[in-house]
Amino acid sequence: MERSSVKELLQSDKFLQEVYVKGWVRTFRSNRFIALNDGSTIHNIQCVVDFENTDETLLKRINTGAAVSIQGTLVESQGKGQTVEIQVSQLEILGDSNPEEYPIQPKKHSFEFLRENAHLRVRTNTFSAVMRLRSALSFAVHQYFQLNGFYYVNTPIITGSDAEGAGEMFKVTNFEANKAPVNEEGEIDYSQDFFGKETNLTVSGQLEAETYAMALGKVYTFGPTFRAENSNTTRHLAEFWMIEPEVAFNDLDANMDLSEDFIKYVLQYVLDNCYDDLEFLDNRLAQEEKAKPQAQRSEMGLLERLKFVVENNFKRVSYTEAIEILRNSKPNKKKKFQFPVNEWGVDLQSEHERYLVEKHFKCPVILFDYPANIKAFYMRLNEDGKTVRAMDVLFPGIGEMVGGSQREERLEVLKEKMAELNIPEEELWWYLDTRKFGTAVHSGFGLGFERLVLFTTGMSNIRDVIPFPRTPQNAEF
Ligand code: 4AD
Ligand code: MG
Repeated sequence: MERSSVKELLQSDKFLQEVYVKGWVRTFRSNRFIALNDGSTIHNIQCVVDFENTDETLLKRINTGAAVSIQGTLVESQGKGQTVEIQVSQLEILGDSNPEEYPIQPKKHSFEFLRENAHLRVRTNTFSAVMRLRSALSFAVHQYFQLNGFYYVNTPIITGSDAEGAGEMFKVTNFEANKAPVNEEGEIDYSQDFFGKETNLTVSGQLEAETYAMALGKVYTFGPTFRAENSNTTRHLAEFWMIEPEVAFNDLDANMDLSEDFIKYVLQYVLDNCYDDLEFLDNRLAQEEKAKPQAQRSEMGLLERLKFVVENNFKRVSYTEAIEILRNSKPNKKKKFQFPVNEWGVDLQSEHERYLVEKHFKCPVILFDYPANIKAFYMRLNEDGKTVRAMDVLFPGIGEMVGGSQREERLEVLKEKMAELNIPEEELWWYLDTRKFGTAVHSGFGLGFERLVLFTTGMSNIRDVIPFPRTPQNAEF
């Protein structure tokens, strides 16, 4: 007999037919009712065991976490909240799960505890829903770009360049610990390394993607990136996945349009295709919100938020306008930001970004035309000589979701900027070649995939939306 998934069975109306499933026991009640899950859906299927005619030792092995194979008859369910159930005729334990040792019990576990058991947490409702959504979002990302004429390009993970010029790189070396050759100053001598030069894990594939956009027109990357920055927040990871489209002949306005259209598309995709998981997470969030004091509760539920983003225009505001708004704002009873906004030119902190999106505009906001000296070297200088064609997309509850820009396409201006920042031309000779040969206006952005998953799932810690978060406590996975 062909095996069915739980999802198929729950949608089927083939009553009184023989069916066959495999999965894991979520709970076993009254020696009779197995709640079975196989990962195909958030819902379990109830399997009713004829306990009077079942061997006692077999019954004792039906424990939470055990893998089982079940055959039986699909019938209409008498129970509340379910339409069908299986009347079990044959049950086989494929893999036991000792209840004395199995960490994932049918009760509410804290996310901290589950983070320590990242290899098992996906067996819970919340994490299985999050990871299914993560997978669906990945698919939607590729679908959007492939349907719109973009090519997928794989940029290097090990690289000699610092794409952001921010010095937040993990060094790569194949020296064995303590045996690295050192020079007279006691510094590691990378010239003797396998690569013969200093290399690091990529912080962004942008610079390489730019070279491809200058031939293929529209490209995107979707791969792991690494930042050796203080990642001890609910919004930062040391290892995260980034989506970076890069488009020849696009200016900043076209870049903003692309980011907005793209985000709306992937959110609409999950609304259309992952409703059960979203509904489950919507309820989870509602319960979490209920536990908060009234004043701190968010006004919208998860599904409402997603629909709101899809249906409304993002607000586009220049950095200069944003500074004016912040200067005239009273963020709280003390009427102060922790970092005061006294003058034009300051970098915005997350409290400012969140004030703008959550209190002032109450919608996603695209900030553009930032001061040149708080942004990366490759951004297109505006005619005013002091701002660059940069854009950040800010989201309620998240802060910065996207960072991007129109790129500096003029060779001389780019060289001047690099000289100013002490970035040696020899290191980026290949990047400068794109400006030397057939240069053109082009733009792109980077979207932090986990921040998108965070927004989509309504989870509150970025470590809970990536299967194996890299933190000092759990590098063993
Ligand atoms: O703003 P960032 O640093 O921009 C770049 O890397 C550009 N090269 C992108 C481009 O134009 N192609 O990073 C882009 C996005 C941020 O907006 C944020 O969503 C995410 O990447 N991000 C992180 N996500 C999780 N953990 C971190 N430590 C992150 N750092 C950045
Ligand atoms: Mg940024």
